Amino acid sequence: MKAQLELRDRALAATAEGVTISDVRLPDNPIIYANAGFERITGYSIEEVLGRNCRFLQGPDTDRDALDRLRSAVRQKHACMVQLLNYRKDGTSFWNRLSITPLRDASGNVTHFIGVQSDVTEQKLTEQALQAANRKLEAAGELMKRDLAAAAAVQRALLPQVLPRIHGVNMAWAFRPCEELAGDTLNVFVLDDHRVALYILDVSGHGVASSLLSVTLSHLLSATPERSVLYQPSRDGAGSFSVASPAQVAAQLNKQFPFEPRTAQYFTMFYGILDTGTHEIRYVSAGHVDPVYVPAGAPPQILGVGGLPIGLFPRLTCEEQVLKMGPGDRLYLLTDGVIEAENDAEQEFGVERLREELERNRCLPLADSLTAVVACAERWCSPSGFADDVSLLAVEICSTGG
Ligand SMILES: Cc1cc2nc3c(=O)[nH]c(=O)nc-3n(C[C@H](O)[C@H](O)[C@H](O)COP(=O)(O)O)c2cc1C
Repeated sequence: MKAQLELRDRALAATAEGVTISDVRLPDNPIIYANAGFERITGYSIEEVLGRNCRFLQGPDTDRDALDRLRSAVRQKHACMVQLLNYRKDGTSFWNRLSITPLRDASGNVTHFIGVQSDVTEQKLTEQALQAANRKLEAAGELMKRDLAAAAAVQRALLPQVLPRIHGVNMAWAFRPCEELAGDTLNVFVLDDHRVALYILDVSGHGVASSLLSVTLSHLLSATPERSVLYQPSRDGAGSFSVASPAQVAAQLNKQFPFEPRTAQYFTMFYGILDTGTHEIRYVSAGHVDPVYVPAGAPPQILGVGGLPIGLFPRLTCEEQVLKMGPGDRLYLLTDGVIEAENDAEQEFGVERLREELERNRCLPLADSLTAVVACAERWCSPSGFADDVSLLAVEICSTGG
């Protein structure tokens, strides 16, 4: 028996935790036992603490909620576990993970509480540092989100705000970036009294890096002759400009955006000039996805035009094509995000499905036919959604001439 008691005393003295016993039957529930661990943690000697309530460890920054919980646990004779700031004898603070448990006598009455004190300061400081780092990270994330949203608004502002009103011609577009910012862009605007420019382009990749180039290109492909590659200064030197041909535009862009190994960016583009009188579209495709032509009363056709992307090779010669559109005909320009949308089985939406969908929707108003195609491709790649930007631009020659 004596050996057992000695063993218990040695075990209690050796443990790193503080162990205290208080007697609830005495006034103010004083400590009647404290081990060496308690001395080590608090700096108070056992003699100094015996006969005192343990609240002497508390100080100005001790959490009031934790104290409330301790008070009510002692009053109701329940077990309780709290973490609270305590103060050592030398005045320094430490985080105490304290558990108190009631002890009952043979008749079930609570006579004592046993308290176990652990110094968890290091853990708490690490936790606090982690929380501070998380708060910083969250703030940085918020800032980045706001920046991206602002940049996305800038990018959206470069899309057609109002489509040009051209007698006998309908136009519509759809734009669905897969992230906040897109590598795709498109636009339609009047070049002169009988010509309208339309383009759709897709910078390799997507997201911020691609959007930087796509925004630059939107500025260059503009209706402001002084800063646009769509016009050329007239030879007479009188400061006037003439409309550049689609092939000249592609060649000029290829010169201005040579392949840069550090960014490895290039882009594909469809650029066309629609003659609003003859309804001819003269166009080039620089490695861009083939457009789909939906002639009135005939099945949709893929216009295989080929060509090389811009910025991959130093020399680029794009062959111009001419499409003569008739009443009721539609032309759909798109980026690869639509046809490369993959379902769960990694099957692409593909050109065939696109053609079928355009055939099915040929009676819908032009803008609605675009909405229907995007919705159909989206259903195809649901639930994962589009993995690339999706853009479409469509032109229709009105069958009634108005
Ligand atoms: C066995 C036991 C050990 C305790 N150990 C501590 C302790 O290490 N630190 C502390 O701040 N409070 C400790 N307390 C809590 C206080 O003694 C007291 O219950 C608490 O301050 C709430 O009561 P009060 O409002 O009367 O002060 C302990 C309580 C018991 C019963």
